[in-house]
Amino acid sequence: MNKLRKKGINDMLQHTEGNQLKRTLGAFDLIMLGVGAIIGTGIFILPGTVAALHAGPGIIFSFIIAAFVCSLAAMCYSEFASSIPITGSAYTYSYTVFGEVIAWIVAWALVLEYGLAAASVATGWSAYFVSLLEGFNLMIPKAFTGSFQPEEGTYINLPAIIIILLLAHLLSYGLQESNRLNRIMVFIKVSVILLFIIVGLFYVKPVNWTPFIPFGWEGVLAGAALVFFAYLGFDAVSSAAEEVKNPQKTMPIGIIGSLFICTALYVTVSLVLTGMVPFTNLNVSDPVSFAMEMVNQDWIAGFISLGAITGMITVILVLLYGGTRLLFALGRDQLLPKKMARLNKKNSPVISTWIFAILIALCAGFLPLSKLAEMTNMGTLLAFSIVSVGIIFLRKDKQLPEGGFKVPLFPLVPIASFLSCIFLITQLSTDTLIASAIWFLVGLAFYSFYGRKHSLMNPKTHSKS
Ligand code: ALA
Repeated sequence: MNKLRKKGINDMLQHTEGNQLKRTLGAFDLIMLGVGAIIGTGIFILPGTVAALHAGPGIIFSFIIAAFVCSLAAMCYSEFASSIPITGSAYTYSYTVFGEVIAWIVAWALVLEYGLAAASVATGWSAYFVSLLEGFNLMIPKAFTGSFQPEEGTYINLPAIIIILLLAHLLSYGLQESNRLNRIMVFIKVSVILLFIIVGLFYVKPVNWTPFIPFGWEGVLAGAALVFFAYLGFDAVSSAAEEVKNPQKTMPIGIIGSLFICTALYVTVSLVLTGMVPFTNLNVSDPVSFAMEMVNQDWIAGFISLGAITGMITVILVLLYGGTRLLFALGRDQLLPKKMARLNKKNSPVISTWIFAILIALCAGFLPLSKLAEMTNMGTLLAFSIVSVGIIFLRKDKQLPEGGFKVPLFPLVPIASFLSCIFLITQLSTDTLIASAIWFLVGLAFYSFYGRKHSLMNPKTHSKS
């Protein structure tokens, strides 16, 4: 038996015949999906706390360093996405170059990334939403506004659960409909950010930028590890590969384009923010609207809060989308029960959508996510590092179609990407590493008892006709 159970690219395309998602998305849709997925808590919450506690105005360098690491991985993702335009992202790519076991580990890592990231952002959304309602004197009982922490008086985070379930309902109506709504919300989010930049520029006092790097480069690097979270989501764009027209060209434009736009916005917002208010005052949960209140622009602050709420919805939507498409791909390959790949009339994998959404909603509703958020980074970094090294193997595949996007400076870029991801993994706390080890052991046990036997690649279970 072939222990590695690899799939050739042509096999991949054949397996998906008759059970494919429709190609409806163009480059612009993809950039919208990317900006929708990436910009969320990263711009509305992180710049304040990270500037105040770690990096000062030098947070712009933290954003640039984190963007650099992500762009290396983004190039590797783009080459894969343009060579293997099938849903499932890093899972699908690993299946082709490394075989089933590594592919399963990557999928398990991605479930962790998409799931916990969606749950974290839903919790952040809930906080903004509750405070906006309070602004209108509408109070939700405290017990229903936070994770299960009886000592704090909170038992369940109801708004977080409700927003996840509502978005799952939307996704089950198919991507075309969700896409339309996504565009409107991305438009509102970017408009609010531009509004902040334009109005804020009038209140910048350059004296607030001195000292520019108050905590030294050590602080800037620590900041980079934290703001890494702000870029999560661009890899979810590659999950759309099967629903994209002309993927060879469109995928790289979508992934790298959205990363570039986000970096430009993060750096500009951070610069204006730290120029408006001394960074030492920015350790608040809504720094962007807080800065506007400080200069007596209360109306603008209100608009920004609304934009933040809208902006975070698109992030949750795309993370949910990535997770459900991953479960769909696993179901189609029968590493998970076949039902996970069943499509409804709207061409949407409805069972995957609801199972994933309910699990995420439970996490967002009951778990204190402050500690678990770090595990999101673990899942992401593991997937990034495997994808990076995978490019070296991909180039050896003789079945590869000609053309498409190629990583420049090969093999330097994939190697640098791999090493920088491993370096960041070593920066995670011991607790996170232990919790991750448990998660992966459970995943491997599931594969040994279920996936290995039922897999479409198991010749004993599925004899080829
Ligand atoms: N990048 C996403 C955010 O910042 C996860 O909310």
